Amino acid sequence: ATLSDPRCKGRPHPFGTVGVIGGGTMGAGIAAACLLSGLTVILVERDGEAAQAAHERVSSILDQSARRGIVDETMRAAIGNRFSAHDGYAPLSRADLVIEAIFEEMDVKKAVFATLDTVTKADAILATNTSYLDVNAIASTVADPSRVIGLHFFSPAHIMKLLEIVVPDRVADDVVATAAAFAKRLRKTAVLSGVCDGFIANRIMSAYRREADYLIEDGALPADVDRAMRDFGFPMGVFEMQDLAGLDIAWAMRKRRAATRDPNERYVAIADKLCEQGRFGRKTGAGWYRYEDAKPVADP
Ligand code: NAI
Repeated sequence: ATLSDPRCKGRPHPFGTVGVIGGGTMGAGIAAACLLSGLTVILVERDGEAAQAAHERVSSILDQSARRGIVDETMRAAIGNRFSAHDGYAPLSRADLVIEAIFEEMDVKKAVFATLDTVTKADAILATNTSYLDVNAIASTVADPSRVIGLHFFSPAHIMKLLEIVVPDRVADDVVATAAAFAKRLRKTAVLSGVCDGFIANRIMSAYRREADYLIEDGALPADVDRAMRDFGFPMGVFEMQDLAGLDIAWAMRKRRAATRDPNERYVAIADKLCEQGRFGRKTGAGWYRYEDAKPVADP
């Protein structure tokens, strides 16, 4: 979706100052992507300690970008002046666009959006990075739902090109156009999705993952499946990809859906068992693979 797409027919708002809520895996990557594109970022975390940790996470991505030559040293030093991390929401009153990237829990997100409604400028755009939750339901907690949209990034958010713009029922045309302009500024490839189960990429991915899980039960190892798919032309195997993204998000979704799952449907519980042991992927040092020195060690 580009600005010439008829679905982006509104007039983009300015978005020079971006608020990011939550500085974990996604929030830190989103903040870094914005900073590397010349935007100002106000990051908000739960408490002082988490704000400090988020600050360090973002700084380390920026340092890494400088080492890779994506920004030069002078620019790297200057970026610091456009970035701040806080443990309260008040600084978000200056934001043009706020992107929420906190835990994937509807009640927690709704509470955050209700707070945003009271602290942000009336015309600030409020976006959620939710992977699976109903963006219409999140929008309904705000007095003016027309300013709420989904901006679904992929991990690592400062590197992955894809950005899904999730279009709720009551969103204003200008807000969709701003999302498209924002994606362009970040040099992302934007696609538009309706509010639906899993949006585009994750929905396809879940069917792919389901089949890969069946293969494990049917006698292949994760490393076999990954190697086969890589040699077949996929850039990365399905299990490596899950370790990179983190297994916890999909686990939370499966737990939420457990009550409505068809008992006759084949269900593979291996990923649940990994998560029960705290094996959420690279970020915890183990997932489908164990990681030593950031290199996977096959661990059937
Ligand atoms: P994470 O657990 O790494 O980070 C969440 C952060 O939010 C934590 O640092 C936590 O302290 C903070 N937080 C929680 N409640 C807060 C509050 N009320 N105010 C301020 N900060 C708060 O989670 P992750 O992986 O970054 O996911 C965040 C969101 O992004 C979720 O909605 C997830 O579904 C979505 N997402 C995740 C992707 C992934 O690959 N991990 C990809 C795309 C979307």
